[in-house]
Amino acid sequence: MKYPISVELTKQSRLAEVDFDNLIFGRVMSDHMFVADYIDGEWTDCRILPYGPMPMSPAIMGLHYGQAIFEGMKANKSTKTGEPILFRPELHVERLNRSAKRLAMPEIPAEIFLEGVHRLVDLDRDFIPQSEGSALYLRPHMFATDAYLGVRASDTYRFVIMSCPVGPYYPKPVKIKVAEKYVRAFPGGVGFAKAAGNYAATLAPALEAKEQGFDQILWLDGKEFKYLQECGTMNIFVVIDGKVITPPTTDAILAGITRDSLIHLLKDKGFEVEERNISIQEVIEAHQAGKLDEMFGSGTAAVISHISDFSYKGKNFELSPIQGRKVGPMAKKLIQDYKVDAVEDTFNWLLPVRTT
Ligand code: COI
Repeated sequence: MKYPISVELTKQSRLAEVDFDNLIFGRVMSDHMFVADYIDGEWTDCRILPYGPMPMSPAIMGLHYGQAIFEGMKANKSTKTGEPILFRPELHVERLNRSAKRLAMPEIPAEIFLEGVHRLVDLDRDFIPQSEGSALYLRPHMFATDAYLGVRASDTYRFVIMSCPVGPYYPKPVKIKVAEKYVRAFPGGVGFAKAAGNYAATLAPALEAKEQGFDQILWLDGKEFKYLQECGTMNIFVVIDGKVITPPTTDAILAGITRDSLIHLLKDKGFEVEERNISIQEVIEAHQAGKLDEMFGSGTAAVISHISDFSYKGKNFELSPIQGRKVGPMAKKLIQDYKVDAVEDTFNWLLPVRTT
């Protein structure tokens, strides 16, 4: 094997600490983590360790200059076999490596990423929750580890995967504020990457929106403040007159794997789905004409989050009640059923976790 993996098992399982009836996103980690280091131009020392703190210099470049990227993916148990399964894992490797390239970081070989995921999920399979909408959330991430304060790309990196049992990220429909002052991403920037700094930059605007009574921000393009980009940490979908519209992925929009899966699933169900630029003006005009059926966000963590209303330049626009909606609730069920292997794997997206 090109990348041998050593395993140190935990002596004290944390399973008893998990309240499976009340899962808080990202709070309790499972027992183990996967770690690999990039040194002298090579990935080395692949290992599974008990989850816990890692000693590190406060000078590591990941902390100072933001060379830090991550992925979010989920494992479930198949309702058919009871065994752990992954959903389109290869897309997460590809996306992490696109992020790495943009941030001048080394690519992680698919073999290391996937073997780490398989081994970790197999080992911590008892942490996979089985209630509706829950999953084992995996967080592969990479950061620069040179202890050096000059500004340049680091020579050394660490890749880590940890996991935690999670329930729905947004348990209720969200109220959103359309961005007027702040911008999430510009053309030519890093908006398409899952870079830690992208999320840091949205925190102050999100806090400000929260103080005004909103849950999330609907980001517009930074040039004209006209076209929809993303919603909070999610891709955005708008349904006008039965047609599903979502902005095309550009260098300022994350290529969501849930987004892509929904497009396939909705088209397969006969819905018309358009990937095109959509302006906030078009959304408002559709609302005024009584044709704005629905809006929702999609993401790995959130799955689908229905939008109850949005506010633009001080004016509030209420959307139809969730109970009467045709697309969002159905799309949510389609993807959730798919991920737990409760329907046919039409697109060949499911991968059983290998046992060792
Ligand atoms: C995900 O959907 O996995 C995300 O990246 C959102 C996360 C930042 C909570």
